[in-house]
Amino acid sequence: MKIGVIMGGISSEREVSLQTGQEMINHLDRSRYEAVPIVVKQRADVITQVQQAGIDCVLLALHGQYGEDGTVQGALETLGIPYTGSGVLASSLCMNKQLSKMLLNTAGMHTPAGLYWQDVYDPQAVEQMGYPVIVKPNMGGSSIGTQLVHNERELLSAVQEASHLDQGILIEPYLKGTELTCAILDGEVLPIIGIHSAHSEWFDYRAKYEDGGAEEKVIHLPPDIEQRVREAALTSYRLLQCKVYARVDVILCQDIPYVLEVNTLPGMTANSLFPKSAAAAGMTFAQLLDRIIASSLH
Ligand code: DAL
Ligand code: MG
Repeated sequence: MKIGVIMGGISSEREVSLQTGQEMINHLDRSRYEAVPIVVKQRADVITQVQQAGIDCVLLALHGQYGEDGTVQGALETLGIPYTGSGVLASSLCMNKQLSKMLLNTAGMHTPAGLYWQDVYDPQAVEQMGYPVIVKPNMGGSSIGTQLVHNERELLSAVQEASHLDQGILIEPYLKGTELTCAILDGEVLPIIGIHSAHSEWFDYRAKYEDGGAEEKVIHLPPDIEQRVREAALTSYRLLQCKVYARVDVILCQDIPYVLEVNTLPGMTANSLFPKSAAAAGMTFAQLLDRIIASSLH
């Protein structure tokens, strides 16, 4: 079977996507699949390259805007080419952290409270919430443009930086707790990973992608708490209509799982969490890719 691995793209996560794509190509089972790398440099590239490649299925290694947000999924639907992972609606919903949080809240789930700014700057509201806060571009990824902020001066520069990436800015209280991630494959939560960032107070870009940036290992929680985390992850996955696989990021704070976001195309780099969780479930990277392709084609 000819598999087109689409990677690169034009989002702020281009570099991460190239690593995800390369890692996928390195691990695809050669006895079953022929990998065709499709490196996207501009939006229009996707359609022409996919059409020229004559592939049976697309393995999506894109992250961020114009890749993880439903746009490429929509183009592939139009072309009638099967692709891996979630469909258009789930992809675009999950890319928008604010909208996903609103939906999760309506189902009674816990998410960090916070402010959403578009063309507003209201430091008093942040003062009321209390520092420190986390400032994020609403539709960002890999923590690019995200900062931990301790005062109004830092707030201004963080908001300016985040607004280069997205008009919508999220400001959330910094929840002190345990950072967890739940990889979900075919509606099953794989072993939960606990994250301890080595050099920072939260799981920032360096902690995510530098060797030794964070200690990430399977966490053993008391059974009732673990059950609560698994349920929160699975309910989020289902509510946001995810398919095949996704990774739900959670902060466990006073035994309450706060869902931060759902990633429909989680990173698959050598330092990424999803393959680690799959390995803890006894799956090689090749087997994981095999499952993703098989259930996407199902
Ligand atoms: N956005 C990055 C790739 C992740 O969630 O792993
Ligand atoms: Mg993300």
